[in-house]
Amino acid sequence: MIQIQENYPLEGLNTFGIKASAAYFTEVTNEVQLQEVLHHSAFRTNKHLILGGGSNILFTGDFNGLVVKSSIKGISVLEETENYVLVQAGAGERWHDLVLHCLDRDWGGIENLSLIPGTTGAAPLQNIGAYGVEIKDVIDHVTAMDISTSTLRRFSNADCQFGYRESIFKQQLKEKYFISSITLRLTKRKHVLHLQYGAIQDVLKQQNIEHPSLRDVSNAVIAIRKSKLPDPRVIGNAGSFFKNPTLSKIEVDKLKLAYPEIPVYPVDNQSIKIAAGWLIEQCGWKGKRLGVVGVHPQQALVLVNYGNGKGDEIFQLAKQIQASVQKKFGIVLSTEVNVI
Ligand code: EPU
Repeated sequence: MIQIQENYPLEGLNTFGIKASAAYFTEVTNEVQLQEVLHHSAFRTNKHLILGGGSNILFTGDFNGLVVKSSIKGISVLEETENYVLVQAGAGERWHDLVLHCLDRDWGGIENLSLIPGTTGAAPLQNIGAYGVEIKDVIDHVTAMDISTSTLRRFSNADCQFGYRESIFKQQLKEKYFISSITLRLTKRKHVLHLQYGAIQDVLKQQNIEHPSLRDVSNAVIAIRKSKLPDPRVIGNAGSFFKNPTLSKIEVDKLKLAYPEIPVYPVDNQSIKIAAGWLIEQCGWKGKRLGVVGVHPQQALVLVNYGNGKGDEIFQLAKQIQASVQKKFGIVLSTEVNVI
């Protein structure tokens, strides 16, 4: 039996630590409870928001609707051969717990995605990625409940239409499905390590590790993340606030004439991603504080709440950053974080 609570505090449920509240709140721990919520009048008569770990969301005010927290747990093996394993995780499992579960068993594929905050259910939604790997590289399928019919549907990797921090669940099917589990295809042997991201190699070299294990790669990623990204339990933040913009090769060539040092990452023959953190730093924002909110001193792409900041203050800061990047470089930054 589900419980709908009123006027519920969200401060502990978003990693920015914003003090907002939800008019109504409920939590689901299995698919039957989820069906119950979908039929409930509080769901049918109010706008709703599905909340995972709250690590990619900014509340700019109170939420005048029903927040449904996804807490479906469980990790199990669906299929296993000598070479690979299909592992399924409930959407409410903490992503990093799943990474540790897999490392303990020497299952490869998600070690570069170590320490990313949030839940497994939110991971495919925005195709989480770091250090040369995206979750799309290992997703076998995603199971999600159709909100209008309360039936489960299985989405293959192709069905998910993954892109850079994008999926069908953020586009055509936005708010139409509730992800209940994800299934990854991981290697049991002949692991393919992704070490090309410069900083990983540097860390491994410093430790004199020539033939890294999955755990070594994970530890290197954890060390890099800890050195650059603030721990949300200490300083409120939601990781990268903006996406790295993708430009055409012609646009980047033009930019490079004025800024030869600009960090670029080719996407395909025509388009190139550029580092938004670098653009923001060039505009003088790195480490800046506006009262109790600011731009992180080690990573300009991360906005932070030093304590008691309001969601709207962070949003206004983001708007100022967007305006100055547009003025200096003519580039429009779009937010990666879901602004509510
Ligand atoms: N840079 C600067 N100044 C800064 C920040 C970055 O000059 O303040 C430069 C760096 O020197 C580097 C380049 O920008 O040359 C890239 O920086 P970094 O390696 O820190 O990665 P990023 O592009 O800023 C992306 C993801 C992160 C992910 C890292 C590592 C996005 C929006 N962000 O950041 O993901 O951890 O790569 O793979 O794609 C997240 O999505 O929340 C997130 C943290």
